[in-house]
Amino acid sequence: MRTPLMAGNWKLNLTIDEAVGLATALAGQTAGLTDREVMIAPVFTALAPVGKALEGRGIYLGAQDVYWESSGAWTGEVSAPLLKDAGCSHVIVGHSERRQHFGETDEDVNRKARAAIKAGLLPVICVGETLEEREAGRERDVVHRMVKSALEGVSPEDASSVILAYEPVWAIGTGKTASPDQADEIHGYIRGLLSGSFGDIVADRIRILYGGSVKPDNVDELMGKPHIDGALVGGASLEVDSFSRIVRFEKG
Ligand code: PGA
Repeated sequence: MRTPLMAGNWKLNLTIDEAVGLATALAGQTAGLTDREVMIAPVFTALAPVGKALEGRGIYLGAQDVYWESSGAWTGEVSAPLLKDAGCSHVIVGHSERRQHFGETDEDVNRKARAAIKAGLLPVICVGETLEEREAGRERDVVHRMVKSALEGVSPEDASSVILAYEPVWAIGTGKTASPDQADEIHGYIRGLLSGSFGDIVADRIRILYGGSVKPDNVDELMGKPHIDGALVGGASLEVDSFSRIVRFEKG
């Protein structure tokens, strides 16, 4: 069965000292959990120090973005091999904030996901529709397009370790969560797409996280759904008590 992954996306927040402090406190409060995984994604500048502080403490380190070239004249970018060098095991790819504010295309997301896989990082690929798209009844079409293009050219073997995150844009940072049934329906739809592309065995292994206003008071019910394999948490991951409660979910 799929091991749940509870991931914190710290976005553009926290100094190095604050990030190390929060990571260390979180490690203390989540120690000894063996039936679930925890990942945090601080800003680039805090990755190496947080990675050092977390050594041997059972929390995975992720970056929030990656560039697809490994090295060279790409001012301002950070590559997958360098993220590995900083201690990362995971990287978030195609977050809706990057798609919306930085013009990332489906093709960019595919290149980033493949670069991550090539370097031995696990990509957490984000997909999800806007409010307008949901109101027009197009959520499945949008998710279909995003999932298919993100995984284009990825072998079934590599696909089994990829992580997807369904994050409806209208639920991110808004306090509006998709209902557990609404989320599970799309997760099930995504799993069906994955079966079509890679076969049932691989599709059954791929974790699909839910993201969008996950909080201590809704995580249990969300995690009780069969196709929800974890959470990608923004706001509520910035505070040790709320994130460790989320990590310690009990299926509702
Ligand atoms: P939120 O963010 O939990 O603050 O809604 C989730 C995300 O953007 O990954």
